[in-house]
Amino acid sequence: MNAEAEIGRHYASGRLLEAILAALAASGKQGAKLTPEELAPLDEFHLGGLEATQAIAEGLELHPGLRLLDVGCGIGGPARYFAAAHGCQVHGLDLTEEFVSVARRLTEMTGLTERVEFHQASALKPPFFAASFDRAVMIHVGMNVSDKAGVFRAVRALLKPQGRFAIFDLVRTGNGALRYPAPWAGGEATSFVAAADAYREALAAAGFRLEQETDRTASGVAFLRRAMAARAAAAAPPPLGLHLLMGKRTPAMLQNVLTMLEEGALSAIEFVALAA
Ligand SMILES: C[S@@+](CC[C@H](N)C(=O)[O-])C[C@H]1O[C@@H](n2cnc3c(N)ncnc32)[C@H](O)[C@@H]1O
Repeated sequence: MNAEAEIGRHYASGRLLEAILAALAASGKQGAKLTPEELAPLDEFHLGGLEATQAIAEGLELHPGLRLLDVGCGIGGPARYFAAAHGCQVHGLDLTEEFVSVARRLTEMTGLTERVEFHQASALKPPFFAASFDRAVMIHVGMNVSDKAGVFRAVRALLKPQGRFAIFDLVRTGNGALRYPAPWAGGEATSFVAAADAYREALAAAGFRLEQETDRTASGVAFLRRAMAARAAAAAPPPLGLHLLMGKRTPAMLQNVLTMLEEGALSAIEFVALAA
């Protein structure tokens, strides 16, 4: 099996929509029109959750009417937030078919279908016209991508000149061990964590000028510690949460990320680059 097929298998369960509908019913939210904030514990699949997405929105300098590409959009939490809070027209792209179909359903349930669309494809072969986007974002996807320069070239081709591209990823620092399972991979075969230098070089090679680089490790660690303490204090996890996406290995995955951040094996870095 090639890496992309294996990555799709890592994320898909075949039962995600069913599990989400049951969790919505258990939290008394079935049938109601939902807001991106209500779904955030479930659909913001990255360190820092909605807070991190809000910080990314600032770096992207969003405003109504902009066309924004979300590369590796997952089940669409950030995409719906950018549309609802900033009035953007968002196109989400993801490898995992099940995530794309759940993303569409949640977008109907939030009443955002006129502003947000989803497409199933690899980030290396995005199905869009050249120079058709004002902004692009890629959140916690690079850890699954070996050819980062290839993805950045594809994104560069889709952006208009001076278009902004924000990336938020976990990058390799120090010599501490990488621990699996991690939220993005069960083992080394589908994990392509790289150093910040590799991102800088790949961005430059793809025709981007790095404008800003922000270390979000400290706020990410604080966020994860709070989330894990809340889980430990409760008898059971709240119905809507990332455990619906990560499954039974959720506690081990979260603990491994926390340990890697605390030991300095990983840092959480946000890059903002301009299409030169
Ligand atoms: C950790 S999730 C993050 C989802 C979303 N960006 C978020 O922050 O909520 C990583 C996502 O990247 C997608 N992905 C991984 N490799 C990809 C690729 N080569 N092309 C498109 N999507 C990819 C996975 O299917 C998964 O949905």
